[in-house]
Amino acid sequence: MNRWNTELYEEKHSFVWQYGQKVLQLLAPQPNERILDLGCGTGQLTAEIAATGAEVVGIDSSEQAIATAKKNFPHIEFLVADGANFFFDKTFDAVFSNAALHWIQPPAKAIECIWRSLKPKGRLVAEFGGKGNIAAIVTALNSVLETPYNPWYFPSIAEYSNLLERQGFEVVYATLRDRPTKLEGEKGLANWLEMFAGSHLETYSETKDQIIAQTETRLKPLLYRDDNWIADYRRICIVAIKKQQYL
Ligand code: BEZ
Repeated sequence: MNRWNTELYEEKHSFVWQYGQKVLQLLAPQPNERILDLGCGTGQLTAEIAATGAEVVGIDSSEQAIATAKKNFPHIEFLVADGANFFFDKTFDAVFSNAALHWIQPPAKAIECIWRSLKPKGRLVAEFGGKGNIAAIVTALNSVLETPYNPWYFPSIAEYSNLLERQGFEVVYATLRDRPTKLEGEKGLANWLEMFAGSHLETYSETKDQIIAQTETRLKPLLYRDDNWIADYRRICIVAIKKQQYL
């Protein structure tokens, strides 16, 4: 996501950080711990981590998101960084990531950067789109588009655990669950497509509005209930520990 409409994100997609509460509980940040929030968006969960007394740094590849995060929470350190190519001199006790790792390609590079940025026995606590996430949306959208679009990475537990283990992590917790997610109102799906695929949809010969309208028609029987769109989210949630290296 390089061009980011932060107003649309904060006004209509606050569920992204509201759902992050459970991952935050799993992180259980402790005062004085040093924590990296990878894919921090506009900083709402980063601020909650900071409020526990932990020292936190938020990174995101979107300049717009980081500019808004800095404006929202000027007391917190936020940096623009590529999630598959970042480096910190000073290591962290934990890397936290909510709804971001499915954007970062290649996943093995993201895992390598996370591993390098952690202290020995440091933890990765992450939730993101897992295998089958938004399958109905992707299928409908791609039945409308001239050339398919699927920039996201939605792994199974086995696939992601394998990548983590190869890097030197031990996976101590992993779940994959359906999490139907309400996109409010009649324009819920249109807003979601605009937010998360909008700039790409401008690259086709049909207009973005036409593509969105046709996708809505295909998905209405499946995902529209009681005046709301329900996106077919599936979440993978992972806790992994950086193994101590013995010579
Ligand atoms: C997700 O959070 O699962 C997601 C959000 C935007 C695009 C794709 C997936």
